[in-house]
Amino acid sequence: MTAPLATRMLTADAASIGEAARCLAAGGLIAFPTETVYGLGADATDGRAVARLYAAKGRPAFNPLIAHVVDLAAARALARFDADAARLAQAFWPGPLTLVLPKQARCPVADLATSGLDSIALRVPDHAVAQKILSAFGKPVVAPSANRSGHVSPTTAAHVLSDLRGRIDLIVDGGPTPVGVESTIVACLDEPTLLRPGGVAREAIERALGRPLLQFEAAAAPDADDVPLAPGMLASHYAPHTPLRLDARTVEAGEALLGFGPTTPAGAEQATGALNLSERGDLTEAAANLFSHLRALDALGARAIAAMPVPHGGLGEAINDRLKRAAAPR
Ligand code: TXA
Ligand code: MG
Repeated sequence: MTAPLATRMLTADAASIGEAARCLAAGGLIAFPTETVYGLGADATDGRAVARLYAAKGRPAFNPLIAHVVDLAAARALARFDADAARLAQAFWPGPLTLVLPKQARCPVADLATSGLDSIALRVPDHAVAQKILSAFGKPVVAPSANRSGHVSPTTAAHVLSDLRGRIDLIVDGGPTPVGVESTIVACLDEPTLLRPGGVAREAIERALGRPLLQFEAAAAPDADDVPLAPGMLASHYAPHTPLRLDARTVEAGEALLGFGPTTPAGAEQATGALNLSERGDLTEAAANLFSHLRALDALGARAIAAMPVPHGGLGEAINDRLKRAAAPR
């Protein structure tokens, strides 16, 4: 991040809720209470805002985020619900349950927010302030817990301030959060699977389903938000079909070019296609473009994608992490 922001803290009321919605629409970052923990919200459809959110949290990697929506109808615009998912949404929304579902083909959520995956995590929070912000804003809001990466989740506005002062625009103070642990995460991609224990008890979910949940082996601790919950399976990393050649300083015949910065590498004229993550070398812009550019270049059917080097500072660490994973042999 560049210059520190003047983080404002406002008590939750009609004026501050309106301010939060305006701030989201302007690409800003706002912390707000949900029934579980305070979330750090950004416009889910704005890749630049999502990139700023990762930078503010200091996440070492782009872990996929939960998109918060006002109701089931808004959720259906983003993801496909099978019968189990519909039953769980019916039983527990609004409330501390997150469902990981197949993304709709025309889902407007930024690729960066879902780490380029074909699935999306959705939740309808049961908190008056969160509900009012979502309905005033009118679009999905991605919100990880509003703590610095590696710290515990905040349950008061003061926790948020001590972690994120100077890094976000606004904190809406709605008092302590009632549940105090994060939402339970269940994937309904195939057989319903518990990915993270949380605010809704497993037994209650199993009663609603009428059968036991599968348990994801390495189900992360509730506050381990930097650890992908299911690296090998559900949250497996986005990987292009086209081989990726890292740290490319030249382009070979038949390759597509993933550029970074103002320099054009030797051989660029023979590229089958070229996209630049950020011509001005801006890492926030590069993060916002990363997954969509990879997808677009992958679709060209080139021999390989030559990815120019990206510096390692700030968001560069996460960008390089994802490029390395995308390049890993399969
Ligand atoms: O209670 C909560 O869920 C809070 C409040 C603010 O809503 N949010 C929260 O978000 O805990 P976060 O980012 O700290 O944790 C979200 C977890 C991460 O571990 C992430 O890997 C997982 O959800 N996740 C998100 N999308 C996923 C996906 N498509 N597949 C598997 N896991 C996913
Ligand atoms: Mg967290």
